[in-house]
Amino acid sequence: MTGSIKPLLRPFQGEFSKSPPLWLMRQAGRYLPEYRKVRETAGSFLNLCFNPEMASEVTLQPIRRFGFDGAIIFSDILTVPYGLGQKVEFLEGEGPRLEAIDLDQLTLEGFKSKLNPVYEAIGLTKSKLPPETTLIGFAGAPWTLATYMIEGHTSKNFQKTKQFAFKQPQQFQKLLDLLCDSIVLHLGFQIGAGCEVVQIFDSWAGVVPDTHFKSWVIEPTQKIVSALRVKYPHIPIIGFPKGVGGHGEAYFKTTGIHGMGCDYMQPLSYIRDHLQPLGVVQGTLDPYLLVAGGSEMKGAVSHILETLSQGPFIFNLGHGIVPETPPHHVEELVALIRRNA
Ligand code: CP3
Repeated sequence: MTGSIKPLLRPFQGEFSKSPPLWLMRQAGRYLPEYRKVRETAGSFLNLCFNPEMASEVTLQPIRRFGFDGAIIFSDILTVPYGLGQKVEFLEGEGPRLEAIDLDQLTLEGFKSKLNPVYEAIGLTKSKLPPETTLIGFAGAPWTLATYMIEGHTSKNFQKTKQFAFKQPQQFQKLLDLLCDSIVLHLGFQIGAGCEVVQIFDSWAGVVPDTHFKSWVIEPTQKIVSALRVKYPHIPIIGFPKGVGGHGEAYFKTTGIHGMGCDYMQPLSYIRDHLQPLGVVQGTLDPYLLVAGGSEMKGAVSHILETLSQGPFIFNLGHGIVPETPPHHVEELVALIRRNA
């Protein structure tokens, strides 16, 4: 044990142990009965996101139940397009729907007051968290947000986004630039309200063509990271470029992030030899191994710990937890990792 540094912050100070700190992406959600109860009372998903008391309550639920080292504020990446003036709704059982994008209508005016409930939820959560738990803020990366803003929903082939970006590169760059500015603001306000680490979710980095990876993924992220590093030098920034593949090293080095979230596809030996020397790595258990539980999960967890716990490492999934996850498998996972201490 090392003094008063919170466990989740230790890897960023170069401290590591056989029992790494742990949290799970999307750890508040439908797999928890207590979440479903609050979600019912809230009515719509966005009502839940923008009600500070309820958002704070569901943020704290997985901390009470499992004692994770990190609490990620309950919100959604699509609050940023909403803050810019694009209409966003979530249809039951179908996911997000965004109105057709009009670049000229998007504006930062009123952004802070629209998203103020998120910052209030952060302040409220901070006052209720156990002292050893780290509060994590987040935003979607420009590329991933642009896909939702242009497609209007979750996509399989991203045809509208790619056609827009290839045919109107200047307009697309204008959108990425606006998103960079708004993400810097949003993460800055979250830090101001009490977040101690921030994560940038680039969930669709894996569908970007090689020829455009630098300009759609690396450069916008680098802009955000350098702006935040100047203003908040003590706040660790984690990038999560899902599906980054062979671009991992360039992404880690060039963006200037302090830690990199790794998906379940990245070879563990590649993470250990090429990414971990550059900073903290986080991940990488396949969310469906947590659904399966038992010896298959145990074997994978041991393999991950053996490979990555010799360096700075935060245990997590390789993508968000899924609704069909049995909560007692999460308990087993926490016990497996803590047993290693
Ligand atoms: O991690 C946490 O516990 C914090 C909360 C969180 C949510 N969304 C809550 C949520 C976080 C960090 C996100 C990020 C997010 N949102 C991402 C990036 C991470 C990833 O999974 O790749 C993306 C792509 C979104 C956009 C989004 N939000 C989609 C596509 C959907 C519909 C799919 C689904 O899972 O239902 C959402 C809805 C959403 N966001 C839910 C939750 C708990 C489910 C809504 C509900 O409860 O009805």
